[in-house]
Order: sequence, then structure tokens, then C-alpha cells
Amino acid sequence: MRVRLAIARWALLLAFVSAPLAPVAALGAGSAKANPGSPGAGRAAFERLGCGACHRVTAPSGGMDVAARVAQKGPDLWFAGSKLQRPWLSGWLKNPTPLSGIRYDRLGPEPASGRHPATPAGDVAAVTAYLMSLTDPQMPAGVVDMGQPMSRTGRIWGNRLFGKEQQCFACHRTGTRFGDQVGGISAPTLVGAGKRLNPDWIHAWLTNPTRYVPVTRMPVYLQGAYSGYSPEQMGQLARYIAAMGLETGDGATPATDTTPPAVTPWPVSPVDGKNLSRVETNFQFLCAQCHGAKGNATGPNASKQLEVLPADLTDPVYMAKFTDDQIFRTLTFGGPVNNLSSLMPPWGNRLSDDERHELVRYIRAVLCKCKGGGG
Ligand code: HEC
Ligand code: HEC
Ligand code: HEC
Repeated sequence: MRVRLAIARWALLLAFVSAPLAPVAALGAGSAKANPGSPGAGRAAFERLGCGACHRVTAPSGGMDVAARVAQKGPDLWFAGSKLQRPWLSGWLKNPTPLSGIRYDRLGPEPASGRHPATPAGDVAAVTAYLMSLTDPQMPAGVVDMGQPMSRTGRIWGNRLFGKEQQCFACHRTGTRFGDQVGGISAPTLVGAGKRLNPDWIHAWLTNPTRYVPVTRMPVYLQGAYSGYSPEQMGQLARYIAAMGLETGDGATPATDTTPPAVTPWPVSPVDGKNLSRVETNFQFLCAQCHGAKGNATGPNASKQLEVLPADLTDPVYMAKFTDDQIFRTLTFGGPVNNLSSLMPPWGNRLSDDERHELVRYIRAVLCKCKGGGG
């Protein structure tokens, strides 16, 4: 019985994994006379405060390319109520701290600048109510069980996947069990993620990322042709992330500390995003967060905290050691396929064969100006 139920649940999830984006009914539409603190009043405040200039509150209906993604000034909020936890949201609106260290509306990795506008104290309750009313009706709920403390195996497995097999902290800051923080800054911080993110949404994101961010800087880890993780394993990973900041001793940090350290400028070369070829666009949007805009290992995630620095793709001596085929395989499956670090993520599910071949040619012709080794 339990087994059959479980199978049915995973079948539903699998359906979700491939579900196209269905239009979402407009929510939170209120009359002008809505109560203060109600979603309707919150919607009015959201408009009055100009939040809509940067955030979409309805689900997009069509596809999107990198240029359209980079034209967005802030992340989509049409599923904010499914993603975020209410207490975190109201606290953050009042006093917004940086989540990611790079600008949202740039192709290449530019240091984030300035603070997010704070919501006036008098509007916080209503805006929170409004954003919490924006939910994804198709998101599977009740998937990640927070009723029980994480099992020992779940913790070990989550730790292994998050910290070794895939080093998610290459892009995401995370707390360590010693109370400090490690990791890259090109992605939203996961320090205190257990207080910020809805566990079921974490699972939904890991199994169907393009539903929420159609063009993401993150690799796609689930199934596909190139990565073996099942929705169930993504559920365990979601449970692991959902403990961050809540269950101590699990690599989680005290909840007080949710601000990434001050961002120091790193070398950037201007990328205007216009008239770039597909391969340059992919390189700037995906690879430069670690390898740097010029490919010389100066991206925002490159830090001595990580076991190795991103390869200097402009170093002809180093790059000549690899055959074109080895590079292609690294791009597809990640570093470990060539005995390199898993800090180099797998892009096979995220970029087509053609796009990865283009990148190999781009590295050879433009970055290292070198030929592949005899192999
Ligand atoms: C100038 C553009 C801009 C304006 C105006 C703006 N935001 Fe944002 N917002 C952003 C960016 C960029 C981020 C990502 C911040 C980061 O990564 O540190 C963000 C993040 C958020 C988040 C977190 C979303 C998530 O999924 O993590 C919420 C909630 C939010 N904004 C609400 C608001 C509200 C409410 C207003 C109006 C008071 C507002 N924003 C005004 C650009 C903007
Ligand atoms: C190459 C960089 C990179 C790597 C590696 C990476 N992520 Fe991400 N991740 C991102 C970015 C960037 C976002 C925000 C969405 C966007 O802007 O594309 C994100 C979003 C997320 C979010 C939602 C956080 C939020 O507040 O919006 C979670 C959870 C997450 N990633 C988990 C993981 C896990 C688990 C792994 C490892 C299996 C991982 N990430 C590896 C870049 C990365
Ligand atoms: C999360 C950070 C990160 C991102 C994003 C990233 N890399 Fe890497 N990459 C690394 C690290 C770290 C290494 C070095 C691994 C080692 O030496 O063990 C590396 C190594 C490499 C190498 C040398 C290994 C080989 O087989 O030739 C190439 C080429 C490469 N990356 C290309 C890319 C391309 C192209 C992209 C974008 C599609 C990309 N990387 C995105 C971190 C990253």
C-alpha cells in the first residue's frame, strides 16, 4: 500500500517535471476599498511603490532567450507565495539584505550595486499578504516531509551531494557547522535557506527549474540525458537545504547571519550584451560567473575558499593538455569525468550538443588560442 502510494506520488511529480507552464489566474486583484493588510491593498501598494518596474507578477506565457532574461531587472514574483516563507518575507521587505552578489540585469557577472528598495513599514503587512497570495497552483505540495528530523542517511546523502558530488556552494554561499560561510556569490545565498524557502518549492525548483526561471544561470541536475539524479533524490536534497539555518549541527548556521560578506570588486570587462554571438552570450551568462568575463579565472565565484580555482582558459600551456573531446566531456558531465573537481559543473542538461561544441571552439580560437593536446 505504502509503496503504491509512493509510486503514485512520484508519477505525479514526474508529470510536474515536464509540465509546460500553464497560465496562472491573476491573484490578489482587490478593489480599491480593500482592507489595509489585505492582498488587494498590498497589490495597490506594490504598484504605488514601483515594484512592478522590476518584477513580473504574472507567469510568462511564452519562451524566453538570454537577452530577454537579462532585460529583466529583478526575479519573477508570480510564485512568491509558493517559494518564500511569510516571516522571512515580511522581515526582508522591511530590511532587505543582498541575496546574490551579482547584478540581476547584466549578461556578465557584474558586482551587485546598491541596496534593494525597502518597503515602508506601513505597507509591509499588505505587500507581504499580496506576495504570499501569488502561488503556483501546479506546484506539488507535501513532498518534503519536515515533520521528522532529517534522517542520518538523508543528512549524509545530502551533504555528499551538496558538498562533494556536485559542489553547489561553488555559486551559493552556505553556512558551515563552525558558524562561518563559504562559497560563491553569483547565486542567491543559501545561508538560512530553511527560514527563507518553502521546502516543497526547493524540490519543485530542483526538478523543474525552467518553470520558475526560464533562462537560469544554474546547471540542471535532474535526469535529462546527462545527469542521473531522480526526483526522489532531489527531494532528499531539498530536505537537506530546508534544514539550513534550522537544525544545527547539519552544516547549518545560526539564523542571525543572513548577510553575505561585503562584496569586493573583482576585475570585469564590459560586456554590453548586444551583438554578441550565441557562444559569447552563453559564455558570459554561464561560464563567466566562475571563469571571469575574459576567461582568466577571475569570476566572482573564484576564491581561495574553494579547493581549486576555475581553470584559466586563456592559459595556452594548461589548455593544450586537454583534447577537444576531453573539454567537450567536461562541459557535458562536469569536472569529475576528466578527474577534475566537481566545482566545474555539468552543463549537458542545460546546453545543447551544438552549444557545447561551439564553446570548445570558442575556447580554442578566442580564449587560449591553442590547439588540443595529443591526448
Ligand atoms: C530596481 C529594480 C527593483 C525594484 C524597484 C524592486 N525590486 Fe525587488 N528585487 C530586485 C532584484 C535585483 C532582486 C534580487 C536581489 C538580490 O539578489 O540580492 C529583488 C528581489 C526581491 C525579492 C526576493 C525574491 C526572491 O525570489 O528571492 C522580493 C520579495 C522583492 N524583490 C520584492 C520587491 C518589492 C515588494 C518591491 C517594491 C517595494 C521591489 N521588490 C522593488 C529588483 C527590484
Ligand atoms: C553555476 C552556478 C550554480 C551552481 C553550481 C548551483 N546553482 Fe543553484 N542557483 C544558481 C543561480 C544563479 C540561482 C538563481 C536563479 C537564477 O538567477 O538563475 C540558483 C538558485 C537556486 C535555488 C533557489 C534559491 C533562491 O533563493 O532563489 C536553490 C535552492 C538552488 N539553486 C540549489 C542548488 C543546488 C542544490 C545545487 C547543487 C546541486 C546548485 N544550486 C548549484 C546558480 C548555481
Ligand atoms: C561553478 C564554477 C564554474 C562554472 C560556472 C564553470 N566552470 Fe569551468 N571550471 C571550474 C573549475 C573550478 C575548474 C577547474 C577544475 C579542476 O582543475 O579540478 C574548471 C575547469 C574548466 C575547464 C578545464 C578542464 C578541461 O576539461 O579542459 C574548462 C575547459 C572549463 N572549465 C570550461 C567551462 C565552460 C565553457 C563553462 C560554461 C559553460 C564553465 N567552465 C563554467 C568552475 C566552473
